[in-house]
Amino acid sequence: MCGIVGYIGHREAYPIVLEGLKRLEYRGYDSAGIALYNGENIELCKTKGKVSDLEEKVKDEINTSGTVGIGHTRWATHGVPNDVNSHPHYSNSGDLVIIHNGIIENYASLKKELISRGYTFKSDTDTEVLINLIEDVQINEKVKLGKAVQIALNQVVGAYAIAVFDKKKPNEIVVAKLGSPLAIGVGDNEFFIASDATPFLEYTKKAIYLEDEQMAIVRLKKGVKIRKIKTDSLVAPYVQELQMNLEQIVKGGYEHFMLKEIHEQPDAIKDTYRGRLNAKEGLIRMAGIDDNIEKFLNANRIVIIACGTSWHAGLVAEYIFEDLVRIPVEVEYASEFRYRNPVITENDVVIAISQSGETADTLAAIKLAKSKGAFVFGVCNVVGSTIARETHAGAYTHAGPEIGVASTKAFTTQITVLMLIALKLAKEKGSISKSSFHHHLQELELIPGKVKKALKQDEHIKKIAEIYKDAKNCLYLGRGYNFPVALEGALKLKEISYIHAEGYPAAEMKHGPIALIDEHMPVFVIATKKGHYEKVVSNIEEIKARKGKIIGIVTEGDEAVKGLADHVIEVPETLESLSPLLTTIPLQLLSYHIAVLLNRNVDQPRNLAKSVTVE
Ligand code: F6R
Repeated sequence: MCGIVGYIGHREAYPIVLEGLKRLEYRGYDSAGIALYNGENIELCKTKGKVSDLEEKVKDEINTSGTVGIGHTRWATHGVPNDVNSHPHYSNSGDLVIIHNGIIENYASLKKELISRGYTFKSDTDTEVLINLIEDVQINEKVKLGKAVQIALNQVVGAYAIAVFDKKKPNEIVVAKLGSPLAIGVGDNEFFIASDATPFLEYTKKAIYLEDEQMAIVRLKKGVKIRKIKTDSLVAPYVQELQMNLEQIVKGGYEHFMLKEIHEQPDAIKDTYRGRLNAKEGLIRMAGIDDNIEKFLNANRIVIIACGTSWHAGLVAEYIFEDLVRIPVEVEYASEFRYRNPVITENDVVIAISQSGETADTLAAIKLAKSKGAFVFGVCNVVGSTIARETHAGAYTHAGPEIGVASTKAFTTQITVLMLIALKLAKEKGSISKSSFHHHLQELELIPGKVKKALKQDEHIKKIAEIYKDAKNCLYLGRGYNFPVALEGALKLKEISYIHAEGYPAAEMKHGPIALIDEHMPVFVIATKKGHYEKVVSNIEEIKARKGKIIGIVTEGDEAVKGLADHVIEVPETLESLSPLLTTIPLQLLSYHIAVLLNRNVDQPRNLAKSVTVE
């Protein structure tokens, strides 16, 4: 899951490619590189480290003039992150350069074959194998670059979004896609290539999203010619008008994207139900559900597939759907589902949840479910993403771009969409009373204001973060709807602060984790009024008896937990089913502040990437 960028046109390519890499750095950030064509030669510079390290190195090493360029920001798959393994990679002749996001699974056998024909390799990457394979085809079959790329890709097993440049054909860049995203920005006799549209938004709002197994020759003056890699048939380019704007992807005064995105949640949740929810008229409109209502109502069960935070949103949805729609729900890790032999039939509805819409495991699970005849519905944030296109129907979360690697607004907006779907189905099915339906709609409309209120606890939460920042382990407990929130709270802390944390159903504590509790163990307990409150209070007593430090997430005005806990953080009262939208807020802020106090790279934590397009 790397980021790729390219430019061919009449402007200086370097600033466009460099700025594009900065915007795509969330996709991978262990090394970066750039190749520019100066009218005669290719100037190439790459380095282990961040795009800012590349920027420094470029100053000393290369001439940055030229109107054609490609760049890459890497999340290592094959080969450790170092200068040599960074992209772009040259072919042996030095005429071709490539950037690649994905994995060539059969690279070892291809490499062996190329070595037997005299090719040498500098790096340990699968990508260097691919560029030499392309060169080998070009030379042996005496074909043009586009054809050589096509023939080579037909020998490849794996996933890719690539851009290839040949200094003998400086008016074109050849791109191709299978499994990894690739967008082409179409300007006025200039073209942009990128893993998503963010690098070229200020230049053009016109974009072509390549489909899997498509390649394109992007040529100055002649435009974009798209072909199917396998069949060679021509495909008419479908140019989309993008709705996104640049302000949505800059930090807007916040120190980190994560903090900005946490604070965006009131608006993001509103944007999620805007145009769909009409509390006054008691209506929910969602085209993806309206058009497929029978599929949902006749389903034997709903199977939810997702990874990470999206999986946690799926767990919340399990409670919501079973409560409101009275339909059995199973929630599966996509990575497990895809390699089991799951019992799925055409009577199942599968809901795939993914912020990025590009997660490889989720995508593979979708394909498997489709092959077994299930109706697959996507809940994605990124418009036009692969999962959005691969599913039979879907609903976008409309949270706006999420850049911080740790998911925040994606989680709350996913729950919002899933709640809307459940309410709509419950109404159709008659499994919810009229008054309860209306009450849910009214409460949902109040959530953005309540999230705003929860965010006001920021300073108080920062003080708590200061007290617990040096903890080595933390426990997160919740019950019912707030058990998934406990899991999510622990995940947030782990991924950005590198502190070990575990989420547990509060009542399960006595079956094991209680042994961990002593005076050094902070325990974050979600103990809101509606939701097994008395039982959670008993669990808190058990922690207190073992001298654990208790931080309670409680409903405004709570007294009982205040009397027991070391600290409490209040959130406004709401329905139990909507409470995850509020209880998750202080846990996000806590993780954020602890990570900042520990001097961690909040937006780009080590070893992670924003969209996991490899398995
Ligand atoms: C955690 C996080 C990851 C993602 C997971 C799935 O903060 O961001 O756990 O939730 O990689 O990603 P999507 O939702 O893009 O499929």
